[in-house]
Amino acid sequence: MQEMGLFEAMYTQRQITRFKPDPVPREAIDKVIEAATKAPSGGNNQPWHFFAITDKELISKIGAIYGELWLGARGAQPQPGESSAYQAARYLANHMHEVPAMVLICADHSQAPGYTPGEPMERGRYGSSIWLAAQNLFLAARALGLGTRLTTTHIRREQEIKDMLGMPEYVETMALTPLGYLRGRFGPTDRRPVSEVSSYNRWGSQG
Ligand SMILES: Cc1cc2nc3c(=O)[nH]c(=O)nc-3n(C[C@H](O)[C@H](O)[C@H](O)COP(=O)(O)O)c2cc1C
Repeated sequence: MQEMGLFEAMYTQRQITRFKPDPVPREAIDKVIEAATKAPSGGNNQPWHFFAITDKELISKIGAIYGELWLGARGAQPQPGESSAYQAARYLANHMHEVPAMVLICADHSQAPGYTPGEPMERGRYGSSIWLAAQNLFLAARALGLGTRLTTTHIRREQEIKDMLGMPEYVETMALTPLGYLRGRFGPTDRRPVSEVSSYNRWGSQG
Protein backbone atom coordinates (compact mmCIF):
# COMPACT_ATOMS: atom_id res chain seq x y z
CA MET A 1 0.00 0.00 0.00
CA GLN A 2 1.29 3.44 -0.95
CA GLU A 3 1.68 5.66 2.13
CA MET A 4 0.41 9.24 1.98
CA GLY A 5 2.35 12.16 3.41
CA LEU A 6 1.34 13.34 6.87
CA PHE A 7 0.68 16.93 5.78
CA GLU A 8 -1.43 15.81 2.85
CA ALA A 9 -3.48 13.68 5.26
CA MET A 10 -3.89 16.59 7.72
CA TYR A 11 -4.78 19.14 5.06
CA THR A 12 -7.38 17.00 3.31
CA GLN A 13 -8.97 15.23 6.26
CA ARG A 14 -12.51 16.58 6.06
CA GLN A 15 -15.26 15.31 8.31
CA ILE A 16 -17.20 12.90 6.14
CA THR A 17 -20.94 12.23 6.10
CA ARG A 18 -21.58 10.35 2.85
CA PHE A 19 -20.36 6.77 2.70
CA LYS A 20 -20.42 3.98 0.16
CA PRO A 21 -22.08 0.81 1.46
CA ASP A 22 -18.87 -1.23 0.88
CA PRO A 23 -17.69 -3.01 4.03
CA VAL A 24 -14.48 -1.81 5.68
CA PRO A 25 -11.87 -4.60 5.80
CA ARG A 26 -11.01 -5.84 9.28
CA GLU A 27 -7.28 -5.09 8.69
CA ALA A 28 -8.11 -1.43 8.02
CA ILE A 29 -10.14 -1.14 11.24
CA ASP A 30 -7.33 -2.85 13.17
CA LYS A 31 -4.82 -0.42 11.64
CA VAL A 32 -6.69 2.77 12.54
CA ILE A 33 -7.22 1.51 16.10
CA GLU A 34 -3.53 0.64 16.36
CA ALA A 35 -2.63 4.16 15.17
CA ALA A 36 -4.96 5.60 17.83
CA THR A 37 -3.13 3.64 20.54
CA LYS A 38 0.16 5.34 19.58
CA ALA A 39 -1.10 8.67 20.98
CA PRO A 40 0.41 10.08 24.14
CA SER A 41 -1.66 10.07 27.35
CA GLY A 42 -1.25 11.53 30.82
CA GLY A 43 1.19 9.32 32.76
CA ASN A 44 1.07 6.95 29.78
CA ASN A 45 -2.04 5.48 31.44
CA GLN A 46 -3.63 4.89 28.02
CA PRO A 47 -7.12 5.37 29.44
CA TRP A 48 -8.89 4.46 26.21
CA HIS A 49 -10.90 1.76 24.54
CA PHE A 50 -11.82 1.65 20.87
CA PHE A 51 -15.04 -0.25 20.24
CA ALA A 52 -15.52 -1.21 16.59
CA ILE A 53 -19.06 -1.94 15.43
CA THR A 54 -19.44 -3.87 12.17
CA ASP A 55 -22.64 -5.79 12.91
CA LYS A 56 -25.37 -4.32 10.67
CA GLU A 57 -28.11 -4.75 13.26
CA LEU A 58 -26.12 -2.92 15.94
CA ILE A 59 -25.21 -0.16 13.47
CA SER A 60 -28.84 0.19 12.53
CA LYS A 61 -29.98 0.45 16.20
CA ILE A 62 -27.23 2.85 17.28
CA GLY A 63 -27.60 4.90 14.11
CA ALA A 64 -31.35 5.17 14.74
CA ILE A 65 -30.73 6.44 18.30
CA TYR A 66 -28.22 8.95 16.93
CA GLY A 67 -30.67 10.12 14.25
CA GLU A 68 -33.54 10.53 16.72
CA LEU A 69 -31.35 12.57 19.07
CA TRP A 70 -29.84 14.82 16.40
CA LEU A 71 -33.08 15.45 14.53
CA GLY A 72 -34.96 15.80 17.84
CA ALA A 73 -32.58 18.57 18.89
CA ARG A 74 -32.29 20.38 15.55
CA GLY A 75 -35.67 19.65 13.97
CA ALA A 76 -36.53 17.07 11.32
CA GLN A 77 -36.65 19.69 8.54
CA PRO A 78 -33.70 21.86 7.44
CA GLN A 79 -33.73 25.23 9.18
CA PRO A 80 -33.68 28.42 7.06
CA GLY A 81 -30.07 29.49 6.53
CA GLU A 82 -28.66 26.27 8.00
CA SER A 83 -24.85 26.32 7.71
CA SER A 84 -23.11 23.81 5.47
CA ALA A 85 -21.66 22.12 8.61
CA TYR A 86 -25.19 21.57 9.91
CA GLN A 87 -26.49 20.51 6.50
CA ALA A 88 -23.77 17.85 6.46
CA ALA A 89 -24.55 16.84 10.04
CA ARG A 90 -28.25 16.58 9.14
CA TYR A 91 -27.42 14.31 6.23
CA LEU A 92 -25.44 12.06 8.56
CA ALA A 93 -28.26 12.06 11.15
CA ASN A 94 -30.56 10.71 8.45
CA HIS A 95 -28.06 8.06 7.36
CA MET A 96 -26.10 7.02 10.46
CA HIS A 97 -28.12 3.80 10.65
CA GLU A 98 -26.64 2.59 7.35
CA VAL A 99 -22.94 3.49 7.62
CA PRO A 100 -20.60 0.55 6.91
CA ALA A 101 -18.84 0.64 10.30
CA MET A 102 -18.58 2.69 13.48
CA VAL A 103 -15.97 3.17 16.17
CA LEU A 104 -16.96 4.32 19.65
CA ILE A 105 -13.96 6.14 21.07
CA CYS A 106 -14.15 5.56 24.81
CA ALA A 107 -12.42 6.54 28.03
CA ASP A 108 -11.72 3.58 30.30
CA HIS A 109 -11.86 4.96 33.82
CA SER A 110 -10.59 1.71 35.33
CA GLN A 111 -7.13 2.68 34.02
CA ALA A 112 -6.88 5.59 36.48
CA PRO A 113 -4.20 5.03 39.09
CA GLY A 114 -6.00 4.10 42.32
CA TYR A 115 -9.30 3.36 40.58
CA THR A 116 -11.80 1.61 42.89
CA PRO A 117 -14.53 -0.50 41.26
CA GLY A 118 -17.91 1.21 41.48
CA GLU A 119 -16.31 4.66 41.78
CA PRO A 120 -18.47 7.24 39.93
CA MET A 121 -16.91 8.44 36.66
CA GLU A 122 -15.67 11.98 36.46
CA ARG A 123 -16.90 12.60 32.93
CA GLY A 124 -14.42 14.22 30.57
CA ARG A 125 -11.52 13.57 32.91
CA TYR A 126 -9.51 11.82 30.20
CA GLY A 127 -10.50 14.12 27.34
CA SER A 128 -7.03 15.47 26.74
CA SER A 129 -5.72 11.95 26.18
CA ILE A 130 -8.73 10.65 24.26
CA TRP A 131 -8.87 13.49 21.72
CA LEU A 132 -5.25 12.99 20.73
CA ALA A 133 -5.96 9.31 20.12
CA ALA A 134 -9.09 10.22 18.15
CA GLN A 135 -7.11 12.47 15.82
CA ASN A 136 -4.56 9.69 15.25
CA LEU A 137 -7.44 7.39 14.31
CA PHE A 138 -8.86 9.99 11.91
CA LEU A 139 -5.53 10.63 10.20
CA ALA A 140 -4.79 6.92 9.85
CA ALA A 141 -8.25 6.46 8.33
CA ARG A 142 -7.55 9.32 5.91
CA ALA A 143 -4.28 7.69 4.89
CA LEU A 144 -6.19 4.48 4.12
CA GLY A 145 -8.82 6.36 2.10
CA LEU A 146 -11.47 5.99 4.80
CA GLY A 147 -13.75 8.76 5.98
CA THR A 148 -14.60 9.55 9.62
CA ARG A 149 -16.52 12.21 11.55
CA LEU A 150 -16.32 13.07 15.19
CA THR A 151 -19.82 13.01 16.67
CA THR A 152 -20.99 13.31 20.26
CA THR A 153 -24.79 13.47 19.96
CA HIS A 154 -25.28 9.84 21.10
CA ILE A 155 -24.14 10.74 24.62
CA ARG A 156 -27.64 11.71 25.73
CA ARG A 157 -28.64 8.04 25.40
CA GLU A 158 -25.26 6.60 26.28
CA GLN A 159 -26.49 4.09 28.87
CA GLU A 160 -28.84 2.46 26.37
CA ILE A 161 -25.94 2.06 23.93
CA LYS A 162 -23.58 0.77 26.62
CA ASP A 163 -26.14 -1.83 27.68
CA MET A 164 -26.62 -2.91 24.07
CA LEU A 165 -22.86 -3.45 23.69
CA GLY A 166 -22.21 -5.03 27.10
CA MET A 167 -19.94 -2.19 28.19
CA PRO A 168 -18.92 -2.01 31.85
CA GLU A 169 -19.94 0.96 34.01
CA TYR A 170 -16.39 2.39 34.10
CA VAL A 171 -16.40 3.08 30.35
CA GLU A 172 -17.36 6.53 29.07
CA THR A 173 -18.25 6.77 25.38
CA MET A 174 -16.75 10.05 24.23
CA ALA A 175 -17.22 10.01 20.47
CA LEU A 176 -19.05 7.95 17.90
CA THR A 177 -17.36 7.96 14.52
CA PRO A 178 -18.74 6.42 11.36
CA LEU A 179 -16.06 4.76 9.26
CA GLY A 180 -16.22 3.94 5.58
CA TYR A 181 -15.18 4.63 2.01
CA LEU A 182 -16.66 7.90 0.94
CA ARG A 183 -18.95 9.03 -1.77
CA GLY A 184 -17.42 12.29 -2.89
CA ARG A 185 -13.91 13.33 -2.09
CA PHE A 186 -11.60 14.36 0.64
CA GLY A 187 -10.65 17.92 0.30
CA PRO A 188 -9.39 21.14 1.62
CA THR A 189 -11.07 22.28 4.83
CA ASP A 190 -12.61 25.69 5.37
CA ARG A 191 -10.72 27.27 8.29
CA ARG A 192 -9.95 30.74 9.62
CA PRO A 193 -6.57 32.07 8.46
CA VAL A 194 -3.58 31.23 10.64
CA SER A 195 -2.87 34.93 11.27
CA GLU A 196 -6.29 35.28 12.90
CA VAL A 197 -5.80 32.41 15.33
CA SER A 198 -2.14 32.73 16.28
CA SER A 199 0.26 35.23 17.87
CA TYR A 200 4.01 35.64 18.22
CA ASN A 201 5.42 37.12 21.44
CA ARG A 202 2.50 39.54 21.99
CA TRP A 203 -1.25 38.86 21.71
CA GLY A 204 -2.41 39.66 18.19
CA SER A 205 1.11 40.22 16.82
CA GLN A 206 2.72 38.20 14.04
CA GLY A 207 6.07 39.95 14.51
C1 LIG B 1 -16.18 18.06 19.68
C2 LIG B 1 -16.88 17.84 18.35
C3 LIG B 1 -18.19 17.38 18.35
C4 LIG B 1 -18.85 17.16 17.14
N1 LIG B 1 -20.11 16.64 17.15
C5 LIG B 1 -20.72 16.35 15.97
C6 LIG B 1 -22.00 15.70 15.95
O1 LIG B 1 -22.58 15.34 16.99
N2 LIG B 1 -22.54 15.45 14.73
C7 LIG B 1 -21.91 15.76 13.56
O2 LIG B 1 -22.44 15.47 12.48
N3 LIG B 1 -20.70 16.37 13.56
C8 LIG B 1 -20.09 16.66 14.73
N4 LIG B 1 -18.83 17.23 14.71
C9 LIG B 1 -18.16 17.51 13.42
C10 LIG B 1 -18.05 19.00 13.12
O3 LIG B 1 -19.28 19.51 12.73
C11 LIG B 1 -16.99 19.16 12.02
O4 LIG B 1 -15.76 18.83 12.59
C12 LIG B 1 -16.90 20.55 11.45
O5 LIG B 1 -18.08 20.88 10.79
C13 LIG B 1 -15.72 20.70 10.49
O6 LIG B 1 -15.89 19.81 9.43
P1 LIG B 1 -14.80 19.74 8.24
O7 LIG B 1 -13.56 19.16 8.85
O8 LIG B 1 -15.40 18.81 7.22
O9 LIG B 1 -14.58 21.12 7.75
C14 LIG B 1 -18.17 17.43 15.92
C15 LIG B 1 -16.83 17.86 15.93
C16 LIG B 1 -16.18 18.05 17.12
C17 LIG B 1 -14.73 18.46 17.10
